[in-house]
This record gives sequence, C-alpha cells and structure tokens, in this order.
Amino acid sequence: MKLFDVYPLNNITITRAKGARVWDEQGKSYLDMYGGHAVISIGHTHPHWVERIEEQLEMIAFYSNSVVIPQQKALAELLGRISGKENYQLFLCNSGAEANENALKLASFHTGRRKIIAFKKAFHGRTSLAVAATDNPAIISPVNQTDAVIFLPFNDVDALKAVFTAQGNDIAAVIVEGIQGVGGINVATNEFLQTIRECCDAYGAVYIADSVQCGYGRSGKFYSHDFAGVNADIYSMAKGMGNGFPIGAISIAPHLHPKHGMLGTTFGGNQLACAAAIAVLEVIEKEGLIANAATIGDYLMQSLREIPELKNVRGRGLMIGFDMPDSHTDLRKKLLTDHFIFTGEAKPNVIRLLPSLALTREEADEFLEAVRKEISVPVG
Ligand SMILES: Cc1ncc(COP(=O)(O)O)c(C=O)c1O
Repeated sequence: MKLFDVYPLNNITITRAKGARVWDEQGKSYLDMYGGHAVISIGHTHPHWVERIEEQLEMIAFYSNSVVIPQQKALAELLGRISGKENYQLFLCNSGAEANENALKLASFHTGRRKIIAFKKAFHGRTSLAVAATDNPAIISPVNQTDAVIFLPFNDVDALKAVFTAQGNDIAAVIVEGIQGVGGINVATNEFLQTIRECCDAYGAVYIADSVQCGYGRSGKFYSHDFAGVNADIYSMAKGMGNGFPIGAISIAPHLHPKHGMLGTTFGGNQLACAAAIAVLEVIEKEGLIANAATIGDYLMQSLREIPELKNVRGRGLMIGFDMPDSHTDLRKKLLTDHFIFTGEAKPNVIRLLPSLALTREEADEFLEAVRKEISVPVG
C-alpha cells in the first residue's frame, strides 16, 4: 500500500532529537525553529517527559473512560493552576480540531443557537464545524458547507459590533485565535478581544479562545488571549500540551453547564496521554518556560527588526512571523539547505518561528546569524 500524499515533504528523515535540535539518519544536526509545527513546548525528548511516559507505560497505557483515571484529575489541577483558570472544568480529547469541534458544539448546546462568528484567515482544524469556521474554501467539502458561520475581518471592532447589533440573538459563539498561526502570525488586538467579550456578554454568546497553536505559554502568557485582560468562556488547546504526545482539551468556564453525555471520547484523557501532559506542565513550571518564551521571543523580535530587509516582524513570545524580502524569497529554503535550520511558513511569503519554549539565547543567536548571512548575500 502506498502512502497518501498529505503534505509537501522535505527529503529528510529525522531519527533523533534533543531540546531544540534534531538529527537526520546521517547524523546531521538541525536547529528546530519550527517545533514540529508548534508542538514541541518543553524541548524534544525532555528527560522528565520521557521518564513520566516510561513509568506510566510500565503500569498501564490505556483504559477507557468507564473507570476512574486519577491522572486526569492531577492534570486538571495542574492546568487550572498554571493557566490561572482554576474554576474551569476540563474535557480531554486528542487533537486541536477535536477540541474546537467540541467547543463549538458545546456553545451551540448552551445557547440553543446555530450561528458562529469566525474571522478571515482563521484556521481551526479539519473536522466538520472546525473546518467550516476555517477561512479556506479549498479544504471545506460540500458536506461541510454551512451558512452557520459568518466570517468577519480580523481585528475589526466595528464589523463585529455591527453583526451583533443586527443578529446578536442568533449568535452561539465567536471563535478566535489570540495570534493567528496558519493565517501568517496576526496578533489580535486587546481592544478586539475585549470587544468580543463585551458582545458575547451583551447577547449571551460564548467566547471561544482557540489556543491550539498560540496557547500553552508560547506567547509569553499561558493563553495569548490573556494579554487582553478578559477571560474567554472556553479555551481550546492541543499542540504544546503533550510535547508531541497527541492530546487536546477544552477548558470550560463555570457558568457553562455541559450536561452528562453531551461530550464524549474513547481515547481522550487516557493514562499515557495524561502522563505526557502532566510532565509538560511540571517542566513548564519548574524551568520557568513561559518567562523564557517571553524573554527569548523579545530578543529574537528585536534583533530581527534590526535587519532592515525584513519587513513586518510580528508576534508574541516564541510565536513570531516576518515577511521574506522580495530580494530573498528563497530565505526559508536556504535556512534549511545551507544552515540546517527548520522554520515554518505561511503563504505567500511569511517565515513562522515556533520553536521549543526552552530555546536558549545561543540557539536564537545561531538562527539570527544564519538569517543575517543569507540576507547579506547579494541577489543574482
Ligand atoms: C489555531 C489552530 N486551531 C486548530 C488546529 C487544528 O489542530 P489539529 O491539527 O491538532 O487538529 C490548528 C492546527 O494547526 C491550529 O493552528
């Protein structure tokens, strides 16, 4: 059987990883400024994470949600405390799309309504409602097409207010990334997020903070939406949560009362996934990784802004984007082939940095040096 062609591939096989570094089968070392698509939060193969998973694996990897799973409670307590949302409740699942799917469904159950506001350039996943709220017609199949989703311009407070004024009583939820990832690293303004909060309060709609990519400390706060100083009703999360072990979740505000049986999952919250997620939070806390993301992120952004050819350096913490100059549209490719550095991209010309939150100043300098070198190479 041959493999389905899912993504364009770099012809590299990674066989080993440690911290912010990965090695191919020939032993060639690469700096990972991409974090396997924002997934690596505490660094590849962190010893504490490996130890917790191995320990759990020896005891039990999986039993269904028909029995008490104490690891879920331990995870909920840690997550509540570290995220600063102790009075929220946790529903565990397996991926970002699944988290958003459940968040949207829950909002509709709660309000009894069927309209959702999402934003231009949003990406929320590939399952039915999550993809319908994603601004990319190419990945929405006919069966997922719906008139339930209203797309508005991102960061446009007036457009948001106007829709609520016209049809606020039909709106079940507003779903928004605190920093759009796939859309090209676009930071939501505080005013925009505060207005979402106000409109949702005024009309009884549910504010869903998609924190799948921008959450889990990456921005320099646990949830990037926290910069606005207002709480969301549901936070969805996944990528950084397991440091590569598949796990997702939604954190649900206390005034929402999902009924028993409304949400469910076979694999969600299994013992092994919880062990990985607990290890991640323990390391984030012990090693001060949220503060590190803020410090190293600021340093990277400041240094990138000093390179005049790079335009629109933007982001927060270790979620950074900048436009490749017209003179060096192959910069991302060159970083990989000539400097052995993985970065992310966003169409058409954005380099996205999503490294481990444990990235050191020396690793940041290695990246900056490579960018400076490439940019200084004359074109032609
Ligand atoms: C903001 C955001 N939401 C949801 C998803 C979907 O997550 P998953 O691929 O785990 O389903 C992604 C994935 O890139 C994302 O960036």
